[in-house]
Amino acid sequence: MLTRRQTLALGAGGLAAMSAPGLVMAREDRGPSLHELAQAKGMRFGSALGVSPPGTVSGAFHDPQYRQLLIDECGVLVHENELKWYVARPDAQTFDFDRADIIMDFAEENGMEMRGHTLLWHHTDWFPDWINNHDFGSRPGTEAERMLTEHVRTMVERYRGRIYSWDVVNETIDEAGRFRQTALSRHLGEEVIDIAFHIAREADPDAELLYNDYMNWEAGYERQQEGVLRLLERLKARGAPIDGLGVQGHIGSGNYDYSTGFDTAREDTWREFLDDVVGLDLSLSVTEFDVHDKNLPADIETRDREVAELGRRYLDLMFSYPQTKDLLVWGLADQYSWYQEHWVREDGVAKRPTPYDENFQPKPLRQAIADALIAAAPRP
Ligand code: XIL
Repeated sequence: MLTRRQTLALGAGGLAAMSAPGLVMAREDRGPSLHELAQAKGMRFGSALGVSPPGTVSGAFHDPQYRQLLIDECGVLVHENELKWYVARPDAQTFDFDRADIIMDFAEENGMEMRGHTLLWHHTDWFPDWINNHDFGSRPGTEAERMLTEHVRTMVERYRGRIYSWDVVNETIDEAGRFRQTALSRHLGEEVIDIAFHIAREADPDAELLYNDYMNWEAGYERQQEGVLRLLERLKARGAPIDGLGVQGHIGSGNYDYSTGFDTAREDTWREFLDDVVGLDLSLSVTEFDVHDKNLPADIETRDREVAELGRRYLDLMFSYPQTKDLLVWGLADQYSWYQEHWVREDGVAKRPTPYDENFQPKPLRQAIADALIAAAPRP
């Protein structure tokens, strides 16, 4: 067996030749895992994991080789979809934790911590139909608050002491910087956000509470950055118990119809935004990192190189903030990336946005993440 270093030294051609199903390096032949590299700096590394039906992109849990890869590389997991209202809340009365618990148990059996995603994806498209059509009665504000409180309290209490960090609210600011309206905010206004944070803190005073969103470093996201910053300022001013900002980190091209060019990063504007965020005494976490290759040439060697280079630049910038302690990727191997199903490439080829290829062989992006962690200063 080759060590990881020898395998990487083979370069892309050698890797391609070695790419055969079943050829996964034994744990003892590998160098330090990404989580071990992170830990050496006082950080954590992890990935999202989904337990949708077998054979689906978000059903990676059913693949034993993939589970082994997660065990080998990660110190943290996060549910890809299982805690969202549209999975865990089949109707207004019911909580269904069956799928969420499968991942929770797997993490605990293997000594991994868990993040919680998400208590309120405040975006009508991702609300279950039953909320959008819910009859809030004659005192709609009271009913909306009751419903939200029950949801947040039940979720957080169930996993109290087992989920160390929550994305309390996800994506409530649109690309124009506006606060999104939903069936809940229609009756509660922006206070819907405050309520979620207060109840979460009450239900688990030790958990870290984040606001999570996809404002990004590329051109086109400036107004969303501005909107997120203003929201964070208002939350702090009102005394909402918020600890940090989750920066999703879906960089690259072709997502959200904004970043059409691959490298349209505006690092200065992005740094100003991050400076303002940490200036509010908030931490930063990279919660859903991947590098979208939608508009890159099909050639695999070129694509993998460009993905790795952009990823490295981004992580170096994020890690230059000592407030950044967690790096989670949104999937560890390409066939389980959500991008296979969203914004498909015009040439129809499979995308390569994650650190490992479909045969569980490390790609240049895996090396880029390792190098960025090695270069990072130890966290205070
Ligand atoms: C995505 C999942 O990966 C998909 O399986 C699902 O169909 C849609 O949601 N930002 C987020 C995540 O906060 O919850 C999203 O996850 C990806 C974008």
